[in-house]
Amino acid sequence: MAVTQIKAVPAFRKTAETFTSGAKTLEQKYFVSQEIFGEEQEKIFSTQWILVGHQSAIAQAGEYFISEVAGESLIVVRDKRGEIQGFYNVCRHRGTRLLENRNGQLSAIQCPYHAWTYDLNGRLIGAPHMDEVPGFDKADYSLHAVNLALWEGFIFMNLASASTERGGYKSLEEWFTPLAGKFSHWNLPQLRSAKRIEYDVHANWKLIFENYSECYHCPGVHPALSKLTPYDSAENDLCEGPFLGGFMKINKSKSLTMSGNACASPVGDMDAEDFHRVFYYSIFPNMLLSLHPDYVMVHLLRPQSPDRTLIFCDWFFHPNAFDHGDFRPNDAVEFWDMVNKQDWHVCELSQQGISSRAYEPGPYSARESIPAAWDRYYLRFMN
Ligand code: FES
Ligand SMILES: [Fe+2]
Repeated sequence: MAVTQIKAVPAFRKTAETFTSGAKTLEQKYFVSQEIFGEEQEKIFSTQWILVGHQSAIAQAGEYFISEVAGESLIVVRDKRGEIQGFYNVCRHRGTRLLENRNGQLSAIQCPYHAWTYDLNGRLIGAPHMDEVPGFDKADYSLHAVNLALWEGFIFMNLASASTERGGYKSLEEWFTPLAGKFSHWNLPQLRSAKRIEYDVHANWKLIFENYSECYHCPGVHPALSKLTPYDSAENDLCEGPFLGGFMKINKSKSLTMSGNACASPVGDMDAEDFHRVFYYSIFPNMLLSLHPDYVMVHLLRPQSPDRTLIFCDWFFHPNAFDHGDFRPNDAVEFWDMVNKQDWHVCELSQQGISSRAYEPGPYSARESIPAAWDRYYLRFMN
């Protein structure tokens, strides 16, 4: 008997429809305790897939950048065959930090101390005078590799070993199954960043996620954003779990820019209705993905301490857009830099108030169903 294939249509629901009544903000300790911060580094950042960058940042063989995950310094490098590799930034001789610059290009990795040299696949290829040591074999001293995989062109690392007591980790492919094919219209693997801004925010990293996940604050905090996108237009298709979000409508303007016009040719082959939508997804635990018709903005979070978070914000465009006369990336960059700063300011104010002895968990509104869901998922790691 023939089976009719029904194309799955994503079910978008208004934010308030998925609210669980009684939801409250997290207890104070989750925002201020050094001990909890250490627990997060261990239970979340050392076990989950963590965003470290986009493949376009190291397009050529030998290009590398240094990332940090759970307090570890990690080398991400493109090898001579074009594959991306990840290693601990730790010499196998006496443990010295190998690379100090945040990025660059090299043909081999040489330790600054006694000049042990590794190729771009981490193999030890030079170790002066070690042939005088009986039984020494260079093959035993490759750099320690880190699990690394790509999702839609974004590079993720996982510090867990396959045989942890928690039963190992999911492969990146398995982890991202709920998002499989979802963003194929946006050409994410091909995009290139036109601009990166680094923000040093004096607020707990979870406040950044909670802030990103609701627009209840938009009328007061973001007057310009609220003109371009109605603050109550959010509809979500991912309402529980590690990936959360959906879209908001774009009013009469064409994109979220200072001018209200598109600032580049479209990033992909979107459906007609996607030209009037901006999609916002949070990807646990350190990525915020904002898809506009003409550009894709990504925030990468790097928690530093309970009350400090580094945020790297990139504006990605289609590679062909860079050569067009209508390419005005600053129109988008200036817009979101303004909105970002408005958000970081209220997050810093929240951090200050939450640190008070007067703070107690407050009730979430029905328009904050997504931050409440984010908190629920986070707590699964902490209990
Ligand atoms: S510590 Fe690296 S070569 Fe000695
Ligand atoms: Fe905001």
